[in-house]
Amino acid sequence: MRLDKLLAHRGYGSRKEVKEFIRKGYVSVNGTIVFDDDTKINEKEDEVYFLEENVPYEEKVYLWFYKPKGYVCANFDPTEPTIFEFFRKIPTKNLFSVGRLDKDTTGLLLITNDGILSHRLLSKKSAVPKTYEVTFTGTVRDESLFSQGMTLEDGSVCLPACFTLLSSGVAHLTIYEGKYHQVKRMMAMQGCSVISLKRISFAGISLPQELSEGEYRTLTSEEIRFLKAI
Ligand code: URA
Repeated sequence: MRLDKLLAHRGYGSRKEVKEFIRKGYVSVNGTIVFDDDTKINEKEDEVYFLEENVPYEEKVYLWFYKPKGYVCANFDPTEPTIFEFFRKIPTKNLFSVGRLDKDTTGLLLITNDGILSHRLLSKKSAVPKTYEVTFTGTVRDESLFSQGMTLEDGSVCLPACFTLLSSGVAHLTIYEGKYHQVKRMMAMQGCSVISLKRISFAGISLPQELSEGEYRTLTSEEIRFLKAI
């Protein structure tokens, strides 16, 4: 593939502009600055940098998805329908969800092929907030346990969470990690049973109002920039 074509496709400018950038020495291939705007590269193997920035071979895709009930978040499952049935029209093959929601959980999921961003957002260090609307039966025994950092039934300790009771049996719970079935297990420790769970925000970004269950939209460039800055 031509180097100027790759750069133009990745949004570094028009073909004319990126040729100029190459001639100015802004672009390196495998650690060597190239000045020839006719340079051809093997886009699958060569490492291209525009100034300090790695230029990805594959275009990055970032989607907000409103997950409906009844789908698992695995890329493949032998028996259950997966959320990736909704993304058949997206040409990229390497999409995955950033974290997982249970089959019966609805709400906001970030879908991408950007492994670096995903890794960052899922890392313990980032402590990205995830807020759930929880509908439950029972009465919460001791609300303060949420903010203190609750110990689960297997002895694992949760980071302090934020619980807000909205009405009888309906609450918002914000957690900063993603342990297996974490919300259901936290509620169980309080003597409550979750009836339904909906993720209403991720990293401080709310489930877009214009989306219905099963729909997705691309992130705005501001949203992508915000997430990359976490
Ligand atoms: N916690 C749960 O228990 N389930 C989810 O799907 C997400 C968080």
